[in-house]
Amino acid sequence: MGWNSWNTFGKNIDEQLIIDTADRMVDCGLLDCGYEYLVIDDCWSERLRSPEGKLVPDPVKFPHGMKYVADYVHSKGLKFGMYSCAGALTCAGYPSSFGHEYDDAASFAEWGVDFLKYDYCFRDKNVPGEVLYRRMSIALANCGRDILFSACNWGADESHNWIKTTGAHMWRSTGDIFDSWSSIRDLTKKQFDLLRTNGHGCFNDMDMLVVGLNGKGNVAREATNLSFEEYKAHFSIWAMFGSPLMLGCDVRAMTDETLKIITNKDVIAIDQDPLYAQPFFTRSGSQEKFISVRLLDGGDLAVGVFNLADTDMNTWNACLLLNEIGIDVASGKTLHMRELWTGEEFDVKNEIYRPSKLAPHSCLLFRASVVDA
Ligand code: GLA
Repeated sequence: MGWNSWNTFGKNIDEQLIIDTADRMVDCGLLDCGYEYLVIDDCWSERLRSPEGKLVPDPVKFPHGMKYVADYVHSKGLKFGMYSCAGALTCAGYPSSFGHEYDDAASFAEWGVDFLKYDYCFRDKNVPGEVLYRRMSIALANCGRDILFSACNWGADESHNWIKTTGAHMWRSTGDIFDSWSSIRDLTKKQFDLLRTNGHGCFNDMDMLVVGLNGKGNVAREATNLSFEEYKAHFSIWAMFGSPLMLGCDVRAMTDETLKIITNKDVIAIDQDPLYAQPFFTRSGSQEKFISVRLLDGGDLAVGVFNLADTDMNTWNACLLLNEIGIDVASGKTLHMRELWTGEEFDVKNEIYRPSKLAPHSCLLFRASVVDA
């Protein structure tokens, strides 16, 4: 969990932004909620390497260098992340780590970096993607510092088959997010086939969150702002599917609604559940209207009811049959459901729960405990 500069700021990053963001992440309770990594994305360096072949932070954006920034971030109790790429250039055209993996890993270690996002643009097509990621992974593993390796090849080149062999700790399983409902829905649908690859060792990263962008910033796309319900559903899907939660909004200027979503500790607990069992789906439903269930550490279940479609739930006979999810009627047990956004609580009666009509682009997310019927 953390924050990344790209979704809002793109190339408009500098030392003061990072310092202010670090302050705000602590002051408004984000660190307490678990948002730990502060990550600078693309566009942080000079256009050329130094004569010694080193990456050089842009002296206008980062006048005191990166160690200074890292030290400040660490002084707030946060961890510090940076960005590079497996190709000759980063996606925005800055120098990148291909052929310089050990130099760059050494620089990151020297500066105090704890997290490296590693992109996939301008790569040498003669070298397989898995080798490119292994090269940096091995360099990081030998750089003398514990650095989380966040692979970002957007699920290209069948990477679900090989990403776990590279040593990456998380991997961008799909393409770039934009601040629009269609983007959120598209990324969600693509995730269905990839969920079986998610889990300990290397987590599927559905991309940085757009909660709180409100139509502004680097990945804004649609004229209409997403609503509170839509951002809530977006956050709930990422939690239900166990994606890393990397904020992308300007945390210095968040609305109360944004803060309410991203600091919901019950929802975060679903995302960060230590067991991370694979989510499954009830038989009724589709990729746009579905009920997803996940066994949680300690025996509770997460139950998410999602309507991503543009029509309401009237057209779908949604139901959760306890028998179907593994609670047999003969056991004398049922589920006590607690909705994590409204606090509503009830017991499932007669072995079946039928969610009431659910508006388009919205969700219900429950934590359910097994109780006597
Ligand atoms: C790619 C990545 C994005 C971002 C940009 C930076 O598109 O997928 O997340 O890092 O590059 O240029």
